[in-house]
Amino acid sequence: MDITQIVEDIAGAMARETERGKVADYIAPLAAIAPERFGMAVVLRDGSVHVAGDAEEPFSIQSISKVFALTLAIGAVGDQLWTRVGREPSGSAFNSIVQLESERGRPRNPFINAGAIVVTDVLLGHLEPREAIGQMLRFVRELASDETIRIDEEVARAEQETGFTNMALANYMRAFGTVRGDVAKVLGTYFHFCALSMSCRQLAMAGRYLMDGGRVEGRRFVTERRARRINALMMSCGHYDNSGDFAYRIGLPGKSGVGGGILCVAPGIASIAVWSPGLNGNGNSQLGQMALERLVYQTGWSVFEPKFS
Ligand code: DON
Repeated sequence: MDITQIVEDIAGAMARETERGKVADYIAPLAAIAPERFGMAVVLRDGSVHVAGDAEEPFSIQSISKVFALTLAIGAVGDQLWTRVGREPSGSAFNSIVQLESERGRPRNPFINAGAIVVTDVLLGHLEPREAIGQMLRFVRELASDETIRIDEEVARAEQETGFTNMALANYMRAFGTVRGDVAKVLGTYFHFCALSMSCRQLAMAGRYLMDGGRVEGRRFVTERRARRINALMMSCGHYDNSGDFAYRIGLPGKSGVGGGILCVAPGIASIAVWSPGLNGNGNSQLGQMALERLVYQTGWSVFEPKFS
């Protein structure tokens, strides 16, 4: 199977697509991104990297950072995390507040905004915001073996200035006690996580630990069981109220962000990142999903593909 060729063919097909979705416009730095952009990177278990299109261009990873924040929080407090956040798909929009009232402030899962805000609060249980942001940056740099990854301060500032729904979510959960720390500190940290800027190559490299049972180049970052569980959550909850459809069409763990990126994992086979800023109605990359669907169709990498040996 010639993965380089497959990735190039997909990028070529995506360049010709006219239905590209709608670029996020709630903050100026995202609204300014051209809808023509498309990038893809596939890292195989043998370490080879296959890229096409705008794969080297950094973009705002936004909610994909929720995967890395969850990994750090599980590392910090283990299964205690699940007393404060659930593991069920929400069936609601990423920034929805409706379930929080009936479910007494406990978010459905760590990949919706409310859940990621709780995860951030957990990290701040033993760190100051500056330390938690530094830890996150060191973590993704180590995972990707790339010291050039940075946080876009302009994006972080814009998130802060427009983040009224997130403020509502955090304050509401503070009233229930699922958020325990200083709400302003929790949100400031959460917004910096969202503002991580990475290219498809860097993101696919950073996802290698989920492809390889928690290890990167022999070094263990999480246990095999935790890697498996994070993948399960990505499959069931990684695309908000579009998660069922993502599993149906692609059949792989994946996590999206409103910057138009998706990190996708074929366990034991590949770590994949796609980026195209146009979003579908659920806030997930329109062409990113289409590209992944094509990749899985051509490679048979879906976890539901029978593997008889
Ligand atoms: O927190 C927010 O609402 C934004 N930073 C967007 C997060 C996000 O990527 C949701 N995703 N699809």
